[in-house]
This record gives sequence, C-alpha cells and structure tokens, in this order.
Amino acid sequence: MAIPDQVVPAAQADNVLPAANLIKGVKKNLQVNIRKAALNDLDNVIDLASEYIIYSLSPYRDVLIEKIKEFRRKDFQNLKNILDFEKTALYIAENEKGEFLGHILIFITPFESAMGELQGYIFDLAVKQEYWGKGIGKLLIRQAEEFTKEKGLNYLTLGVSSSNQRAIKLYESLGFKEERKKFIKKVINGNFNPPG
Ligand SMILES: CC(C)(COP(=O)(O)OP(=O)(O)OC[C@H]1O[C@@H](n2cnc3c(N)ncnc32)[C@H](O)[C@@H]1OP(=O)(O)O)[C@@H](O)C(=O)NCCC(=O)NCCS
Repeated sequence: MAIPDQVVPAAQADNVLPAANLIKGVKKNLQVNIRKAALNDLDNVIDLASEYIIYSLSPYRDVLIEKIKEFRRKDFQNLKNILDFEKTALYIAENEKGEFLGHILIFITPFESAMGELQGYIFDLAVKQEYWGKGIGKLLIRQAEEFTKEKGLNYLTLGVSSSNQRAIKLYESLGFKEERKKFIKKVINGNFNPPG
C-alpha cells in the first residue's frame, strides 16, 4: 500500500506548545514542542516503541523480551500504511533543537464495542527515559485529548499493564478513571509465579 500523503511534514506542523506554560512541574529551560509526525520521524518512533515495550510486559506471561521487541517493531512498521490523520494521529515531542523526545499514537476506534461508540484510543505513549518526570508525557496526552475533541468524540481511552505504576499514576493525575479489569489465567503447564 502506498504511503498516504496526508502525513503533515514537520515544517507545516501547527502545534508548538511552550511546555512550561502548560504543565505544572515542567523543568525550566526545557522547551518542548508537540507537533504532528512527519514520515522521517517514523524511525525514531519505531525504535522507541520497540525498546519501551518492556514497560508494558505482563508479569503473568512467559515472554521472550527480544521476541516481543521484534513483534512490536513489525507492528509499528505498519504505521507507514495507516498514518493518515483521519483515524490515526501520531504526535512527536521534541526539544528546541528539534531532537526527538517521545511520541503518542492515537487511533479512532470502536474499541468500546459494547457501547457502540467511536472513541479516541491511545495505542502508544513513550518518552525517552532521560526526559522522564518533566511533564512531556502529560503534554502528549493533552494533545491526544485535543485530537479526540477535534474529531467530535466524547472519550479518550487506553490500556495499561497493571504493573506499570508510573504510567497509571500519570493517567490518574490527568483524570483518567479505571473502567474495566482484564483477567488472565494460565491453562497449560500449571500456575503463575507470584509477580515481582
Ligand atoms: C509513562 C511515561 C510516558 C511518562 O512520561 P513522563 O514524561 O515522565 O511523564 P510526565 O513527566 O508528564 O508525568 C509525570 C507523572 O508521572 C508520575 N511520575 C513521575 N515520576 C514518577 C516516579 N518516579 N514514580 C512514579 N510516578 C512518577 C507522576 O504522576 C507524575 O505526575 P506529577 O509530575 O504531577 O507528579 C514514561 O515514563 C515512559 O515513556 N514510560 C515507558 C513507556 C510507557 O510505560 N508507556 C505507557 C504505556 S501505557
């Protein structure tokens, strides 16, 4: 499939937010710009998403980390085919030098099929570790909220591994509520080991 041409080149990006004006606790002297992704951002996004899948691992599944990373990388390589900004939005956080700091990927999806309602869904959020705790994750989520609102949708949702306490705290601090719980039971080869 051809790469869609609706992807907005970085030069046309229209969403430059001075983080310090928006987010409590953003460190001074760190200017963060949030902008729509351009095609040449995808390598950075794919690398970070594949590397940081480790933060979303389930403590209840037997996984081979390298295999999971490889799976994630292949999954994200499909982004080139779906990045059309109608049903998908990819935003990049960068510093004043234009260095890549993180990304957020949102789909519009009927994920909550029981309710039959389209909604925004955060498929991936990641910030480079050396920039954690500076409010960049919050900025990216605020941007996802804006995108969802612009699409006329009432709700923004996401899934997070129960072990990812850092991300859970972040979502709760922004007003997200736990809506459902997912359960897992191992049915072949015995019981779970206790997590941790
Ligand atoms: C989760 C993640 C995106 C957060 O990015 P970030 O830029 O550090 O987030 P922010 O600085 O905007 O948010 C900080 C919030 O996280 C929480 N937090 C910050 N430092 C924390 C710490 N050391 N321990 C626990 N929670 C912490 C707090 O709720 C904090 O809010 P506060 O500043 O009002 O107290 C980032 O840690 C990351 O990339 N993690 C790996 C990938 C991942 O887990 N993605 C989410 C998958 S669902």
